Amino acid sequence: MTKEDLLKAAARARAAAYAPYSGYLVGAALLAKDGGVYVGCNVENASYGLTICAERAAVFAAVAAGRREFSMLALSLGGGGAPCGACRQVLSEFAPELPVVVGDGDGAPFREFALNQLLPEAFGPGNL
Ligand code: THU
Repeated sequence: MTKEDLLKAAARARAAAYAPYSGYLVGAALLAKDGGVYVGCNVENASYGLTICAERAAVFAAVAAGRREFSMLALSLGGGGAPCGACRQVLSEFAPELPVVVGDGDGAPFREFALNQLLPEAFGPGNL
């Protein structure tokens, strides 16, 4: 699975995003070490604080399918964003150095990071 293919999966998930309040659509595709791909999109709610981000939706889908080891995250979003702080923490639980690629799903990524660049000195299971 190339990063371009993973970005395409994220872009397909983005098309399913439910974001009537912000209008900001996000799709995520998480590649598991065994080659499986788990997707998520943001799902907003009339009770705004209940919104879930695309990244956490993807992590939770993967974990519910029995996957806990990941090799890449692709994100499809506008405005050149990167995962929010809450999603960085949730991703870090399972893959602190996860490569993260961001794009629009049509070609190469705009930006690439390692998760530990985005969340240095993360709090993790080893701190308990
Ligand atoms: N959102 C995500 O899905 N992922 C992010 O990393 C940033 C924000 C969503 C949450 C909300 O539905 C909308 O984008 C605007 O914040």
